[in-house]
Amino acid sequence: MLTTTETQAPVTTKVTLTFSDGIAHELAVEPGQSVLDAGLAAGLPLLHQCRSGSCSSCFATLAEGAAETLPGCGSSLLAAERAEGGRLLCVTAATSDCRFVLPYDSKVGEQRAAEGHAFVNVVERVAADVMRLELELAEGCWFDLRPGQFIRVKVPGTEQMRSYSVSSPPSALPKIELLIRLLPGGVMSQWLLDSAAVDDVLEISGPYGSFFLQDGNKAPHVMIAGGTGLAPMMAMLDTLRARPGRKPPILLSFGCQSAEGLFHREAIALRELWLPGLTVQISVDRGPAPEGVRVGNPVQAIGADGPLDPATVAYLCGPPGMLEAGRAHLLKLGLAPDNIHMEQFSAS
Ligand code: FES
Repeated sequence: MLTTTETQAPVTTKVTLTFSDGIAHELAVEPGQSVLDAGLAAGLPLLHQCRSGSCSSCFATLAEGAAETLPGCGSSLLAAERAEGGRLLCVTAATSDCRFVLPYDSKVGEQRAAEGHAFVNVVERVAADVMRLELELAEGCWFDLRPGQFIRVKVPGTEQMRSYSVSSPPSALPKIELLIRLLPGGVMSQWLLDSAAVDDVLEISGPYGSFFLQDGNKAPHVMIAGGTGLAPMMAMLDTLRARPGRKPPILLSFGCQSAEGLFHREAIALRELWLPGLTVQISVDRGPAPEGVRVGNPVQAIGADGPLDPATVAYLCGPPGMLEAGRAHLLKLGLAPDNIHMEQFSAS
């Protein structure tokens, strides 16, 4: 007879990881080990970057079994994503045998991040709080970039790294354009405002992230961008434009807090000319709004002119509140959760 409280002994769990092309791998995950660590140790091609629950690169959906966040770890996942099975594998422990579905195919995961140097070609302030930085990769440095992914940049004179989505398409390599939000007191912001100059050399690495244009999907596209969340959308638009064949209808809803914060309006207007299927709605949270700009947030603008095709693929990039509201709104409009792709921007 047992006289002490029984506790379940920690056991090794069996975890299956299924890529979007159907390739599946089974691995043993030790108690206290993250699923990502176990997968990488087994040589699986899993996307990742921060390994601390903040960049979302290692996102996967729990399809069977139970898995929880490791004790003492945080996660940038939205509550709604988590409730629907979303997990960040770098901070997730399997608490039973389980199966995860990855949002990318097994080939994508083989992409390896590179480290190198890039020269500054252009530093341009494009709005009250947005800087455009054009870089050029140094000889011998190359990134296998996908439209929508991000890179890491070391702030000159410091050991601090910052992550920025690339706003230029992969076809523009070796040039890389970044749209960087200026933050009061931010070390990168300070460097951009005080010291950045043409021909400066930056240490960079990348590409990273599982937020990128899905190949060959002809369904209508919706893009919702808040502030510099426009960056990955520009890369995707330019990539779609360059692809042969019929383009999907695209609705871009871009919003900033106020008219002073708006940027890239001419660049967006050019894309409207180049892509006849592109419809653009620009919003500011508070007025006065310039001509052609609505007052409201970019999420509310979606569906205002009629219902969405349920097969629509959506890309959202911006602050957490916008993503939460955008996802809930799109689900209400009938989109499938698997067709909603999100990248969260948060200040360092
Ligand atoms: S690698 Fe898991 S959130 Fe960044």
